[in-house]
Amino acid sequence: KHEMIAHARQVMADNDRGTYTVPTHGLYPFQWNWDSALSALGFAQFDEPRAWTEIETLLAHQWEDGMVPHIIFHTPDDGYFPGPEVWGTERPVPTTGITQPPVAGFAVARIHARARDKALADTQARALLPRIHAWHQWFYRARDPKGTGLVALLHPWESGRDNSVDWDAAFTRVPTEGVGEFTRRDTTHANPAHRPTDEQYKRYIWLVKKFRSLGWDNSKLHDASPFQVVDPGFNAILIRACQEVAELAERLDMPQIAAESRVMAEAGVAAMETLWNEDLGQYLCLDRTTGAQIDSPSIGGILAVFAPIPKHRAAGISARLKVLAESCEYLIPSHDPTAPEFEGLRYWRGPVWLIVNYMVADGLARAGEPEMIGRIMGDCLRLIETSGFAEYHDPITADPCGGAHFTWTAAMIIEILH
Ligand code: DGY
Repeated sequence: KHEMIAHARQVMADNDRGTYTVPTHGLYPFQWNWDSALSALGFAQFDEPRAWTEIETLLAHQWEDGMVPHIIFHTPDDGYFPGPEVWGTERPVPTTGITQPPVAGFAVARIHARARDKALADTQARALLPRIHAWHQWFYRARDPKGTGLVALLHPWESGRDNSVDWDAAFTRVPTEGVGEFTRRDTTHANPAHRPTDEQYKRYIWLVKKFRSLGWDNSKLHDASPFQVVDPGFNAILIRACQEVAELAERLDMPQIAAESRVMAEAGVAAMETLWNEDLGQYLCLDRTTGAQIDSPSIGGILAVFAPIPKHRAAGISARLKVLAESCEYLIPSHDPTAPEFEGLRYWRGPVWLIVNYMVADGLARAGEPEMIGRIMGDCLRLIETSGFAEYHDPITADPCGGAHFTWTAAMIIEILH
């Protein structure tokens, strides 16, 4: 156990750039939004000031409209595509123009709750909560203009689950004309069989160019995007973050933030019900452009349990995990292994991700559904023992995939073992 923690800390130290961490050397040489927030949890176990700095740096690059970008390009690095010149957001420190799962609110609340340095935690949380709250409000304003209670993703990269089967059907409506020539760099750092396809990359880039042509004006992007998908996992993270911010703001005597956050969380929980699918026994994505559920049994619909969903739904997710456990060696596969689209090595089309396991286990614990938690956490440890701190792992063979020496994988091991 001590050896594993020491190894995890070494991975985090190697990827530490002082005021932010890179997810891994080479493949991801900048600061990524949800990587940072989840990695801060690991830092907090042994260096609280460093944990707060990680989140402070992330939020220092928030846009005026409230959006917190998905990548901050702190230093130039031509080993990554698409870099700042493709995004063209014209920020003082270049950033992308899209966002990522808003786990920061959850991370701040958790780090605050178990802080040894209470004074520092109060000071930091007081400074960070208004910014995180502005981000949450931005979501419901810019990504839910009709006020449904659920926000849409406008780019698969916003989901964090870049090449999930969930996006396949909606992606057929994203054109590829006019994207021009480009050279991918990810496939020089990682095995191409573990990564998205060239066809997907053309569409990723088409969307970036489309949004750039609209000047990254978030009052226009939602309606102009041919890709508008409502992801239960993403919305669950946002809802949970709103709820955590509400509770912490109350304790810190910030009543307006508390009240507004509670309203957003409650509307979100109520609206999640429209994503439940009784046949599959889990939540599904919704394609906002067609109004129909997307028939794709992915981890997005399991991660929903991270939100304060009703007790009988959490029990349903626990039951669904039992079914999934029968078709894989390691929980939780990012796509149902019995579905024809499942690919055990390819990024979000099958592999296990420790950050998702952590959030699902946390949601089950809160809901009072402990049955599958031991199995999920035990599988995390077995995977790392067998194959090291990889970005993700094959749920059947445990093969390490994507980048190696990965910050948030290490952070999750530190969390699990403490
Ligand atoms: C990538 O480049 O693969 C990232 O996931 C985009 O955020």
